[in-house]
Amino acid sequence: ATICPEEIDVFSIPHSRMKELVYKYLEMLPSTNFSDVVNMTTLLENLLITFREFKAHEQIENKYIMTKLKAKLRKLSIQNTAVCNCHSDNRLSEILSLLRDGYRTAEETAGDRVNFGLQLQRTLEDFTEKFLPHMEEEEEVFQPLLIKYFTLMS
Ligand code: FEO
Repeated sequence: ATICPEEIDVFSIPHSRMKELVYKYLEMLPSTNFSDVVNMTTLLENLLITFREFKAHEQIENKYIMTKLKAKLRKLSIQNTAVCNCHSDNRLSEILSLLRDGYRTAEETAGDRVNFGLQLQRTLEDFTEKFLPHMEEEEEVFQPLLIKYFTLMS
């Protein structure tokens, strides 16, 4: 991670919490028996809490970091599509909606729940594959931009 003064290091601490949550669900997923309603529901409850926290993390970053960084880059006429697009997809909302669908499989057959489990696993693997590098990009690319454009000039 980038070395920078602690008071302007905005990503490292929240990201260590986000990574802790990622590792927790990666550990829970393979040991969940989706045919068992209680077991599946326990996982879904944990995931709902986790993804609401991811969403709050993203909203805080948008409000306090990305909006200001984008405005600053625009003012300086610097193009940076990574900063502009970093939270533009709806992955978190889609996953939250998939989790809500999962609760409905409690009323369905064990086979339906197992299929849901496979779909959930694929979705979360795909999410994780993008989320970890996304956080790294914020730490490695965006943090230096913040230091460059907000410590000396503002
Ligand atoms: Fe820090 Fe955009 O996740």
